[in-house]
Amino acid sequence: MKVIVLGTAAGGGFPQWNCACPTCADPALPARTQDGLAISADGDNWYLVNASPDIRAQILATPELRAGPGVRETPIRGVLLTDAELDHTLGLLLLREADALEVYAPPAVLTAVGRFRDITDRYHAWSWSPVPDKLDGIAVSTLAVSNKRPRYADEPVPGPWVVAYRFEHDGKALVYAPCLADLPDGFEQFAAGATYVVLDGTFYSAGEMPGQTVMGHLPVRTTIDRLDGRLVFTHLNNTNPLVDPDSPERAELAARGHVVPDDGTRWEFS
Ligand code: MLT
Ligand code: MN
Ligand code: ZN
Repeated sequence: MKVIVLGTAAGGGFPQWNCACPTCADPALPARTQDGLAISADGDNWYLVNASPDIRAQILATPELRAGPGVRETPIRGVLLTDAELDHTLGLLLLREADALEVYAPPAVLTAVGRFRDITDRYHAWSWSPVPDKLDGIAVSTLAVSNKRPRYADEPVPGPWVVAYRFEHDGKALVYAPCLADLPDGFEQFAAGATYVVLDGTFYSAGEMPGQTVMGHLPVRTTIDRLDGRLVFTHLNNTNPLVDPDSPERAELAARGHVVPDDGTRWEFS
């Protein structure tokens, strides 16, 4: 299984376009696009995990995902969604040129992104389905994370609105949970034995931003005290000191064995 970390920022990206805080204004800090992964069992057929508004730039920056080998062929087969938040779904509209695309999401999320489907259906009829157990040789499982629905979604449908994914191939596993209000029951079991456990790194600590608690993102400080093993953090908000590679917080995290990947990080499991 091959994994490419396409983006590692929270909604709005880093720097955030409408923020002039000292961190966003510091040109020395590495830019981050909105979070998402690309995964593949064979290196030829790829699935996106979340489709951010940065998807076009992410694809163009990733040779494995660029069009080919035929003139109008693409190695991108489909998209799996963890939730319906705009930073994870707006990219669907930007993929509207695709002749075919498989979209997989939990039922509540499929309902919310029905808005986008109404639009993309005018261009191409894609498949929109619940998450399968197996995808191109990769075993897929989900764990319900929360019922935090996007602000724009008012469908009276049962959740979960947010899930975590576990992808497994040849006995190696990766867990992806970029949106975690809390650690759900059974999370440790769900993540057991995974080579990479990629988690919500929106905020480093509690009280980093006004209104932070209602946003439902478990701070990194709490997560590292509650979970064992090496953890990877993504979906970084611009208030998070981890965006600075030279921050003491980054040094502390590294000393505990945890990882903050840059955009474009590649993991190969063999
Ligand atoms: C979140 O991660 O909390 C959401 O993406 C917030 C948003 O951008 O609406
Ligand atoms: Mn988000
Ligand atoms: Zn900022």
